[in-house]
Amino acid sequence: MEETRSAILDRIFAGIERTAGKLPSLPHVVFEVMKLILEDAPMPHIARKIEGDPELASRVVGLANLAIVRTSGNKITHLDQALTILGVRKINALTIGASLLKILPIKGGTPAFRFEKYWAHAAAVAEVARGLAQRINVNLDGEELAGGLVHDIGRTILGRYDKEFKRAIELVAKEKKPLVAAEREVFGADHCEVGVHLARKWNLPENLVDVVEYHHEPAQARNPVLVALVRVADFYANSRSVGLDATLKDRDVREDPAWSVLVSQAPRLGEIEPERLTEWFEKSLVAAREFTKLLR
Ligand SMILES: [Fe+2]
Ligand SMILES: [Fe+2]
Repeated sequence: MEETRSAILDRIFAGIERTAGKLPSLPHVVFEVMKLILEDAPMPHIARKIEGDPELASRVVGLANLAIVRTSGNKITHLDQALTILGVRKINALTIGASLLKILPIKGGTPAFRFEKYWAHAAAVAEVARGLAQRINVNLDGEELAGGLVHDIGRTILGRYDKEFKRAIELVAKEKKPLVAAEREVFGADHCEVGVHLARKWNLPENLVDVVEYHHEPAQARNPVLVALVRVADFYANSRSVGLDATLKDRDVREDPAWSVLVSQAPRLGEIEPERLTEWFEKSLVAAREFTKLLR
């Protein structure tokens, strides 16, 4: 009998809990911050709550600087300042992003799945998505940045199965199939399905769940602009070999269905010269290296 979707996911997650102990979980303070924001709590309350976890607070300030530095040149040194400049919704997204930096390993992993590579890719996607949103004047409240960091979260689970993950990577090289398809073949589920399972356990906001679930098929997303933007950034990072999907190497981002989804939402984008676009993206890839400073 064929194994059902949920049986496959249960098997994958149960295997992790058996071998590697615990699944990562978001710090409690993140849920408290989300709750305060929903209740329209005053900014100082939110700031004090985040500061209850000093390591998290300093990472939020670090991310806030990445989010503003290209627009104003001012440096944010304090959380209150970050909240005033960026607003609560952005700080919410940045707190989630900062939590990931805190709970996932910065390096190490298994031979087939290295966290150094996960972060280089995640940072590139976050930065390209953030830069593009800014250039085309789309305000996504920082969710494009958090979305970039979290989109491939499912791979941090699949990657713990070293032998299987290696086999998926080999399938990409040998049979030229996208990694997402190779994962389905090897594991019975791909990193989007696994990621959504984790994102729901974490109670992530719906927009971020949407990114995790649909970044490989943005037309299905509930928030197609956000998801297509992250996918375009994902495609570009992979095309420049900052990612695991070798089938996208040197490919043109405008070939991806996400590009049409994005152009239909932001028609100005379709008029931008390809060279100009590449210039934007390359600048973002350089800026993404700044992330490594946050990863210490
Ligand atoms: Fe992905
Ligand atoms: Fe990705």
